[in-house]
Amino acid sequence: MTTRLPSTSGALPEGETPGCDVSDIYLVHRIFRWGFREFPTIVRGVDDGDVERAATVSGAVELLTLGLHVHHEGEDALLWDPIEARRPACAVTVELMREQHARIATMLDRVPGLAAEWREGATTDAAANLAAALDEIGHTLGVHLGREESDIVPVAAEVMSQREWDALGEHGREDFPKEEMPIQLGLMIEAVPEAERAAWFKRSFPAPIRLLWALLMRRKYVAWQHAVFPEGMPALV
Ligand SMILES: [Fe+2]
Repeated sequence: MTTRLPSTSGALPEGETPGCDVSDIYLVHRIFRWGFREFPTIVRGVDDGDVERAATVSGAVELLTLGLHVHHEGEDALLWDPIEARRPACAVTVELMREQHARIATMLDRVPGLAAEWREGATTDAAANLAAALDEIGHTLGVHLGREESDIVPVAAEVMSQREWDALGEHGREDFPKEEMPIQLGLMIEAVPEAERAAWFKRSFPAPIRLLWALLMRRKYVAWQHAVFPEGMPALV
């Protein structure tokens, strides 16, 4: 599937109307807040020299940072221009969003190297360096997400069409490794409060995906959870 880029004039594509349900972004943000809150502690908790555990945990860390990279890439390509064009009063905030993304991207670029160093001998020094980088990202990200949720997402809900908004989610799925889809989907499901989970899942995914989840993907997600969090996964909600 190809993603249609927004028009530079800011006009809505023909036949589309402004107004969309933006609730999915809060789930995505919840996963990132959770990940950057929990993983620094998990990384620091790996025993010196435990290369096997370092390999497992660093894999999860790299998945989290890749997820954030892809999510931001989607916003850069599909969100800022239409918001700025349709709501010029947001220009200063949009500029801030772009700057924060650029700063976070520079920090994210350091993660694969730090993760590889840690995997090598699983030293506590290398773990501390990786954990510090994650803390730094988490701090900047916390500020960024808060501002995006208060000043940008409500505007997007008013000025973007549902198809335009859905293209953001599609981008996130298309640019993420297919084999990791069970992890992505599992975390999304877990980010929904339990009482709303079943209804949300039914509403958000077509029957073939729900079946695939039940038959195959759920098992892979649970195996990943047990490997990464042998003492139980910290609550996501
Ligand atoms: Fe963002």
